[in-house]
Amino acid sequence: MPESQPVRATRGVRDILPGERPAWRVAEQAAQAVAERYGYQQLETPIIEPVELVERGVGEATDVVAKELYRFQDPGGRWLVLRPEGTAGTLRAYFEGGLNQGPQPARLYLIGPMFRHDRPQAGRYRQLYQFSLEAIGEDSPALDAEVIEVAWTWFRDLGMKGVSLQLNSIGDGKCRPAYRQALLDYYRPLQPELCADCRRRLEVNPLRLLDCKADNRFVKDAPLITEYLCDECRTAFAGVRRLLDDAGIEYRLNPRIVRGLDYYTRTAFEFWHEAIGGQQNALGGGGRYDGLATAIGWPATPAVGFATGLDRTVAMMKEEGVAVPAPAAAEVLVVPDGPLLEPAARVGRICRAVRSTAVDYSQRSLKAKMRSANRLGSRWVAVMNEVEAAREVVQLREMGSGEQREVPWRELAEALA
Ligand code: HAM
Repeated sequence: MPESQPVRATRGVRDILPGERPAWRVAEQAAQAVAERYGYQQLETPIIEPVELVERGVGEATDVVAKELYRFQDPGGRWLVLRPEGTAGTLRAYFEGGLNQGPQPARLYLIGPMFRHDRPQAGRYRQLYQFSLEAIGEDSPALDAEVIEVAWTWFRDLGMKGVSLQLNSIGDGKCRPAYRQALLDYYRPLQPELCADCRRRLEVNPLRLLDCKADNRFVKDAPLITEYLCDECRTAFAGVRRLLDDAGIEYRLNPRIVRGLDYYTRTAFEFWHEAIGGQQNALGGGGRYDGLATAIGWPATPAVGFATGLDRTVAMMKEEGVAVPAPAAAEVLVVPDGPLLEPAARVGRICRAVRSTAVDYSQRSLKAKMRSANRLGSRWVAVMNEVEAAREVVQLREMGSGEQREVPWRELAEALA
């Protein structure tokens, strides 16, 4: 980049500016509230993880690993990744932090950035944010239904109406091989007509052909997983559905939901929004992943969870006209008329005891400062010149009414309360 050029953000990432943050905060606070209402506890895991965690956990043949992984060598020569998702790291932390020794299931959630070198387009970012929630250490189908209910309640708490739940079971190690074979038998003769991605995926993971983005001509006649489920998977799936029915949660049985990460067994689901269509623009997704623990070298442990994308959810909140507060401006602005840095800072501290307060330290004219005070949107402006500073008073103006009066510093807290 020539040195004369201003430095800009790298492709596919963006800033979330103060004007947008209130909507994000609403979504994050609702996520914390609902997760904790269901007994889930927050954790943080590192953004950098060993490459093996993701390769072995998420699967080397998945797009997330094969095409989208931020992989790099640190100065010590160790291969690391920027985490593309939160589940593998959460499960690693569950074992390393000894949560597997505590009460089961461990109910955990995480809110934070993930990184995928995706092709940038609407709703796809290279730094994306997820609300990711996991119930680890128990295999009851009630937990599958519970995590779905948490996500469902979150969307409802946010006031969103256009969200639908797409539900499927993708079987387990016992019944999926037969289904895989049925898909191979169906797709192999069609191979010359498949898109490049599907040809590549066919032998590695034929299930992924069901959510081909480029061409879905052949999907409608492909064999359905539902016809191949073993008795255990069938019973578990029926249990999940009964629990969802009982909770009054509507879902669409969708045998094409296969998910893009390798670790799923049995329940798989996605949340779609009517305004962005399905599949490639899901608001969230998840499922059961009983095989992930052994894939990353820890003892076999059942688990289920979901992640919702905050970027897309916030966009859909806006689309649906969900009300969010305006970005908070300082309630009080202290405006010294003249070089009065210390008195202005002092008045600022006094006001802050009761109200959020900013101080205008610039050397502009009073008129210019008052203009910017108006734009800032503070409720009160406390103006003082040198004489007033010496007398320890300010002129306190309520911007809405235009009312102004002299207030001694020591009475400011009371006047603003
Ligand atoms: P995922 O389906 O890969 O699942 O991602 C979940 C959500 O993250 C997506 O539905 C989408 O809203 C958001 N997302 C993914 N990639 C992007 C992107 N490039 N830009 C914007 N948003 C994006 C998982 O990550 C699993 N760990 C979910 C899970 C948790 N399964 C079990 N527990």
